[in-house]
Amino acid sequence: MAFTKKICALIMCFALVYCVDAAKKVMPIASPDIYKGTNLAKDTLAPGEKIVNVMKFGAKPDGKFDCTQAFMDAWRATCKTKEQSRLLIPNGRFVVSTMFFSGPCLNPGPITIQVVGTIVATIDPSEYVNGEWLIFEDLDGIKLIGGGTFDGMGKKSWATAENCEIESSTTCIRNPSSIYFHKVRNGLIQNIKSVDPKGFHIFVTNSVNIRLRLLRLSAPATSPNTDGIHLSQSIDVKLSKNTIETGDDCVSMIQGVTQVSINKMKCGPGHGISIGSLGKYKDELEVKEIKVENCTLVGTTNGLRIKAWPDKFPGGASNITFSNIIMDNVKNPIIIDQEYECFPNCQKKPSLVQIKGISFSNIRGTTISPIAVDLRCSKQFPCQNVQLRNIDLNHGPKPADSRCANIKPVYGGIQRPAACL
Ligand SMILES: *[C@@H]1O[C@H](CO)[C@@H](O)[C@H](O)[C@H]1NC(C)=O
Ligand SMILES: *[C@@H]1O[C@H](CO)[C@@H](O)[C@H](O)[C@H]1NC(C)=O
Repeated sequence: MAFTKKICALIMCFALVYCVDAAKKVMPIASPDIYKGTNLAKDTLAPGEKIVNVMKFGAKPDGKFDCTQAFMDAWRATCKTKEQSRLLIPNGRFVVSTMFFSGPCLNPGPITIQVVGTIVATIDPSEYVNGEWLIFEDLDGIKLIGGGTFDGMGKKSWATAENCEIESSTTCIRNPSSIYFHKVRNGLIQNIKSVDPKGFHIFVTNSVNIRLRLLRLSAPATSPNTDGIHLSQSIDVKLSKNTIETGDDCVSMIQGVTQVSINKMKCGPGHGISIGSLGKYKDELEVKEIKVENCTLVGTTNGLRIKAWPDKFPGGASNITFSNIIMDNVKNPIIIDQEYECFPNCQKKPSLVQIKGISFSNIRGTTISPIAVDLRCSKQFPCQNVQLRNIDLNHGPKPADSRCANIKPVYGGIQRPAACL
């Protein structure tokens, strides 16, 4: 989304050379999965693992005292030691401003941050010069666990949120994400709650082998740009058993996202599961190998959506499967929209994004709009090999409808609504 913009806004202050670097998008390199075959749900201290409690560094759990310095000191004590260590945030409310949890760390194994209490964001927007709230960066092996909560205190900032999705100006500033993973390898976030982020709940970019499990992310349906999990330019991300109630997309995947699985997610309210928007920036990398299964969407504005801008930049989405999805009063359950923000009478040039190899199977439930399957592809790059199998979507007592443009879907099994002619 606004990520590239942010970099480009920064360049103005530094040198032109950064702009060149920012535009050249390079995928992180895939690596073996260190969590494979391990029981992720089980947390035990490693032999000799040292516990670093933020209270020992001057943090106060009173919901008032600014604990940022204490957290930074405690993080340094956890990360910059060759002894296996874990950072403990005990019960209570710890107010923390924007800060970095930067690596590389010297621990032999993955570092654990165990959040039992609540970490509460400060409110003053001028403190958020880093663009995000809690920044986890340059880490290989990080586990964020413990049942605790990240409270982004977003209410005040929502009122002044700029809509970077529609805004064409390069100065649009996105509100800070609560948990930001940048250049993280082997990351796990499990059994954590996030409430009222200023921007996204969780933003993962330039990262490899990330697990996001058993999360409860919540914000009001009316909160702007509060995506649940926003992914860009990352490889091998596994989401499972997450519950997301928020104001924007439950999960959004933009350029350069590959090998993602989303399993057993409950989404809603929110804008559903979204691929894109695509073709927004120059030199976008393709989105591919995405598998979404066994999810439920309740009262969301979209269900399964692929969206691309007309008249902008090239891009692509391929090998994406959606299966066993239940829709409960969803507005646009199945939607490919290559006229994003330019519908119904789009006069712009067609989208340059190629969408191919998409499969929707066993999608059932209810919709609140008459068009349940809406497939509008690019005139210049018609969608290829889009399959619909066993679709059963009902619009109250009336049958719902389908709409197709620049696409010849391959149908199988039940089709309710009826196939496009
Ligand atoms: C499609 O994606 C799946 C993962 O979702 C992967 O296992 C498979 O190899 C991919 N197929 C092709 C043809 O790229
Ligand atoms: C999704 O549900 C189906 C049917 O219950 C099951 O066979 C499949 O293993 C599930 N997928 C995952 C990844 O758990």
